[in-house]
Amino acid sequence: MPGLAATADTSRVEAPVTMKAYLMCAFASFGGIFFGYDIGYIGSVFGMPFFIHTFTGLPYPPANATPAQAAEFAISPSNTSLITSILSAGTFFGALIAGDCADFFGRRTTIIGGCFIFIVGIILQTASTTVGLLSGGRFISGLGVGFESAIVILYMSEIAPKKVRGALVAGYQFCITIGILLASCVDYGTQNRLDSGSYRIPIAIQFLWALILGGGIATLPESPRYWVKRGKTEKAIKALASLRGQPQDSEYIQAEISEIIANHEYELQVVPQGSYFSSWANCFKGSLWHQQSNLRRTILGTSLQMMQQWTGVNFIFYFGTRFFIQLGTIKNPFLISLITTLVNVCSTPISFWTIERFGRRPLLIYGGLGMLSCQFIVAIVGTAVPVSNTSATSAMIAFICLSIFFFASTWGPTAWVVIGETFPLPIRARGVALSTASNWLWNCILAVISPYFVGEQYGNLGPKVFFIWGGLCTCATVYAYFLVPETKGLTLEQVDRMLEETTPRTSARWRPTTTFAADMGMAADGTLKEEIVHDVERKGSTY
Ligand code: BGC
Repeated sequence: MPGLAATADTSRVEAPVTMKAYLMCAFASFGGIFFGYDIGYIGSVFGMPFFIHTFTGLPYPPANATPAQAAEFAISPSNTSLITSILSAGTFFGALIAGDCADFFGRRTTIIGGCFIFIVGIILQTASTTVGLLSGGRFISGLGVGFESAIVILYMSEIAPKKVRGALVAGYQFCITIGILLASCVDYGTQNRLDSGSYRIPIAIQFLWALILGGGIATLPESPRYWVKRGKTEKAIKALASLRGQPQDSEYIQAEISEIIANHEYELQVVPQGSYFSSWANCFKGSLWHQQSNLRRTILGTSLQMMQQWTGVNFIFYFGTRFFIQLGTIKNPFLISLITTLVNVCSTPISFWTIERFGRRPLLIYGGLGMLSCQFIVAIVGTAVPVSNTSATSAMIAFICLSIFFFASTWGPTAWVVIGETFPLPIRARGVALSTASNWLWNCILAVISPYFVGEQYGNLGPKVFFIWGGLCTCATVYAYFLVPETKGLTLEQVDRMLEETTPRTSARWRPTTTFAADMGMAADGTLKEEIVHDVERKGSTY
């Protein structure tokens, strides 16, 4: 496809966007609902009498049961951690497999495939009356959630306009929080039923999410960057035109596609594509000391997601109910969980604005500082004052909520935004998949070990567990300061260049001065050189 208009003007590397196009990009964020709902619904199910009775075979405790008798009527810590964490194990593998599928079948098809897998898992979970079947079903739904969580981020980052990419991907985090809230509300509504509807309704409702996401995504265009990677420039232009709401021959569309092609050609020259295995190996190539190397980017994405989990936010969402019960003075632990979940939902939209106004780095650094302060306060108050003291408990709950506020408005969305922006096209699907897999791996590790931190017969740390989360948040904050670059307001191709020319701490000041199209392949008449386009078409890779 010779004769694509190219430009050296860095302000014209992206076409203007219509409202319809914004809405199309925003729809994909619905994928977050899966993720959040699955995280959210299981915690309260563990406290449901019918569920405990069915899955343990224990008789219901008498109305005048002593606290010790009431405490015995529970799912064991080992089953709690198995049922909770097996979802994350499924999502870990799902995310990794999805990275391959997204390069092979396309981003859209992979998301739709994930919805099908998810539905199979839901059927098994709904049918379950034993820990074995429930765990198997959660593993399979986990595979589906892994597909969604990795590829929705990839797809959104690739289709969203640069000025609002952060805000749109933060919309995905918002949907995660809504998913968690919906799960709490449904659990709240069914918890006291003494029939299988208590846990089956919260599980089966998830069919809806799969139908809405799968059906909706089927009507959206494929990512133009995927088509460029496959060497199908005609299809890339068509997809981009539809995403930007512009005619295919618009100069802007031509300039944007030229830049994507030229950048891809450049990346292929730096790290050539080879076989299936070498394309995986490419994720780990390059120097550890240069932030633009593939290795450094893979480390950045995976460690950022690890740190996001280290903030300890899921301790509250997974085990909050039990933890609040342990504090003793709390009358309605379900209600407190609902409040923490509401704080999570209401704080996330702040990031739609702050992430584009202040950038990714400040959010991670100041958000980290906010969280670590709150967590140390909770730990200190909980250790110094007896748990029977109601004002101390209220203060602890207030600081737990404040810590969730900081997470939801900073680390929650930003970790997803940054992984979508970090990788160059040849390794983008795998890089995002690896990073998402890291999120789930750490989610799983923490879900397995947390019940042992606080379980009465194990660590029995009580509020002291917040010393651990505070310490880990401190690591995350220092890490963000030294290692996370600023990617605000740049196209994905400009991010590539910025990583080459700056360090994390100087990245925020970087401004583009040229384009890949100009540097790599602009002919004298201002069009992209034919051989560049042919080369990208010829090298089109299925890996
Ligand atoms: C995290 C989840 C967490 C959720 C809370 C997400 O960004 O990855 O682990 O449960 O935010 O809103």
